Amino acid sequence: MTSSPAGASVFKDIQKLSFDYVPKKLIHREPQMKRLRTLFRPVVESNFSQSALIKGSVGTGKTHLSKIFSSDLSKLGQEKGKYIEHVLVNCRQYYTEDMVLLKIISKFQPHFPDRGFSVPEKLEVLRKQINKSKCHLLIVLDEVDVLLKKSGSNLIYTFTRFDEEVPGIKASLSLILISQHDVFPLMDAASLSTFRRTNVVTMNEYDREELKDILVERVELAFFPGSVPEGSLDLIADMTSESGDARFGIELLMNSGMLTDEEGVEEVSPEHVRLAKAETFRTITEEKLAELDKGKKLTLLAIARKMKKSAYINTGEAEESYAVVCEEFNEKKRGHTQFWKYIKDLDALGFIDAKISGEGVVGKTTLISLSEIPAKQLEEILEKEIARSE
Ligand SMILES: Nc1ncnc2c1ncn2[C@@H]1O[C@H](COP(=O)(O)OP(=O)(O)O)[C@@H](O)[C@H]1O
Ligand SMILES: [Mg+2]
Repeated sequence: MTSSPAGASVFKDIQKLSFDYVPKKLIHREPQMKRLRTLFRPVVESNFSQSALIKGSVGTGKTHLSKIFSSDLSKLGQEKGKYIEHVLVNCRQYYTEDMVLLKIISKFQPHFPDRGFSVPEKLEVLRKQINKSKCHLLIVLDEVDVLLKKSGSNLIYTFTRFDEEVPGIKASLSLILISQHDVFPLMDAASLSTFRRTNVVTMNEYDREELKDILVERVELAFFPGSVPEGSLDLIADMTSESGDARFGIELLMNSGMLTDEEGVEEVSPEHVRLAKAETFRTITEEKLAELDKGKKLTLLAIARKMKKSAYINTGEAEESYAVVCEEFNEKKRGHTQFWKYIKDLDALGFIDAKISGEGVVGKTTLISLSEIPAKQLEEILEKEIARSE
């Protein structure tokens, strides 16, 4: 491998790898795009309001598909003489009815005051804005499960029957919900009855070949020709296909390129990719761990400490270790039932594997293991996290 001239880079346009970059078209998502177009055709062609749910795990392209779809819909409206506005709200950021409404209103009125108006008043403001601008408004609520969990489904109910409250008026509001999880169990009977529950667009996880196609396209956009050899790209595709998460693949690609630049060489080697994986994984792990509540953090730390020397531990050992950790951090130790719940939640979230062993002398016991993250790394990150949130 030859060394590149000082200051040279494998990237011709690194911005194409950033999270803000929305590709013109998502490859392998034509069926989902077509479904959305079909569902929303009556919005453009007749006086109709629509609602739909986009569902799929992280990195399957939900957010970007909705961005491309909404701006396409506005354009199509323009061609057909119908004014369609759209606004995307990320409910992880805006998780109360107040915040969501304020975000939508500020689309029309950027300096709308963030205090002094109740939810019903804000809804009236929004209604007036829509009437005044004579638009049809498509509202996209991304990561809507967060809003539903924190604030219930009232707002969604209100949006789905927005036009019914004013008889005779034309259809003025449509809704797209996006979530990783099944959100219908989080909605109450009223909102379920007005939301069109059969309009679900499912984003399957990408398989290895699909991921490779996505990566090849990004390489062409972001890297100088010849700087990412086929072997390195295959390795990224392999690493990414475990999760089917395109975001992880693109992040790996970017981090591999940065490590290559750091070393001052011209080609992204498999070793750069492996190094990048370890780093990328650590960042992602830190982000995920930061989101856990304190009880789960303490439980996971207790498990990580016990796990440094063994492949498996049982729940009894985990609970003993948990008691020690609680004492160390001056936290009240929760009872057995709650502790068991922490274990089940951590299992569901994928941080640990908990499985029942049928072989035990004293009958069945649950064995815990760590699948992905090294115990030592987990311990370090969690100790910092817990101390930080004191
Ligand atoms: N089919 C695809 N073609 C090209 N890029 C994609 C595709 N699917 C996802 N991506 C990219 O992967 C990243 C994650 O997509 P995103 O829409 O944020 O996923 P989600 O919202 O489902 O977590 C983004 O950078 C997006 O541009
Ligand atoms: Mg998203």
